[in-house]
Amino acid sequence: MSIWSKKPLALLMQEASGEGEHALKRSLTAMNLTLLGVGAIIGAGIFVLTGTAAAQHAGPAIVISFLIAGLGCAFAGLCYAEFASMIPIAGSAYTYGYATLGELLAWIIGWDLILEYLFAASTVAVGWSGYFVQLLNDLGIALPSALTSAPFAVEGTHTLVRTGAIVNLPAVLLVLAMTALLVVGIRESAKLNNAIVYLKVAIVLLVIGFGAFYVNTANWSPFIPPQLTDASGALVPGKFGWSGIFAGAGVIFFAYIGFDAVSTAAQEAKNPQRDLPIGILASLAICTVLYIAMALVMTGLVPFPQLDVAEPVYVALDAAGPSLAWLKYFTTIGAVAGLASVVLVMLMGQPRIFYAMSRDGLLPQVFGRVHPTFQTPWLATIITGVCAAVLAGLFPIGLLGHLVSIGTLFAFVIVCAGVLVLRYRSPELKRPFRTPLVPFVPLAGIGVCSWLMYNLPGDTWWRLAIWMGIGLAIYVFYGRTHSKLGCAGE
Ligand code: ALA
Repeated sequence: MSIWSKKPLALLMQEASGEGEHALKRSLTAMNLTLLGVGAIIGAGIFVLTGTAAAQHAGPAIVISFLIAGLGCAFAGLCYAEFASMIPIAGSAYTYGYATLGELLAWIIGWDLILEYLFAASTVAVGWSGYFVQLLNDLGIALPSALTSAPFAVEGTHTLVRTGAIVNLPAVLLVLAMTALLVVGIRESAKLNNAIVYLKVAIVLLVIGFGAFYVNTANWSPFIPPQLTDASGALVPGKFGWSGIFAGAGVIFFAYIGFDAVSTAAQEAKNPQRDLPIGILASLAICTVLYIAMALVMTGLVPFPQLDVAEPVYVALDAAGPSLAWLKYFTTIGAVAGLASVVLVMLMGQPRIFYAMSRDGLLPQVFGRVHPTFQTPWLATIITGVCAAVLAGLFPIGLLGHLVSIGTLFAFVIVCAGVLVLRYRSPELKRPFRTPLVPFVPLAGIGVCSWLMYNLPGDTWWRLAIWMGIGLAIYVFYGRTHSKLGCAGE
């Protein structure tokens, strides 16, 4: 068998319906799946990055950046929905890649998805730690800073330096607590997630609803601030104007990551072919509307340069005066709970991708072991949790965040390409959900996501290349020789 071997769809479906020791429990409804998506999406992006992106790149036109990034995600989301309804199996883009593009590319996507899920869990845990420490401070409890920040920081673009801190302990403890919950059960985890999602959506709605009355429209003028020039009069790229809007879209793309996490729960959905597309598209649509309204309100409440802080929503509400003081405190609580649920969903997605990869023989069997009582992929969950906790404890948010964005965009590009390939190669297959306007939508998805990747810093590309190099080495020395598809063909 060659590295281009594709996994037959019939075999995939047969495995997915398999029962016994390796079966996951089907308990999630369309509503659970939508809430799972919203749980993964609303997090550090809207609560932290919107402010910096508006202040440093786009001004009030960050609203247009949200529209552009949202459009790219909508194209990718429509492609994910077609695959998820057709191949409702736990591995998400990895499995879609195996069915359409061959084993090597599937491995590359699977390895790349670690950047999206495992690294995102660490990134958001670091963001959570900041809010949590702030909340404790407000309550009069001060933790020593050596135990609440990363021992490493990035100096310049790529030099790692010691900061003097020991470990980001709150981030580590959050990751470990969420891991324990995920081992115990998917339904328990979904219940906690649902409760938190209602809370964070309620808080976003309150900020939009009450904040709207205090908007000063003068803050929206000029809506697109003119692009900055340097001392010689040359335009500075990414600093306002349309160039800044695109740079802002690259930054706030992070805010949309997560809708595809719905597809990783495919084997735990009661009616996956109908409900996965609903979960993916509904969560994305809800969050897009909320984000655009929230960005309008935040930039309307204060002049945008003031939003360049770790808690921009808090600062925006502060500007409205004492009448919205109550909402500021709710917002901090909402952010603490909300970011925790993002960590939960990301830590849930990763082991399910490992599970699919190990079932195919590309990773060792331990990753596929399902707990006899809890029916969860417990060993993969613990391995994921420990790795994510180490990353969250040691590294700063910026370093991790860009890697998450580039990894996710790369996966989106491949999923869009996969839809095109499969429509051409196997047009007769049953597709409970069909991406509309093919080939326009997949091509537009590839275009917008590639453009957003292009706008990320060059160093991130190098890190992606190194990560992929490590992955390829593992494939050559392990996956290729252990692949079940490969062994079956010999
Ligand atoms: N979209 C998620 C967040 O913003 C990853 O935290």
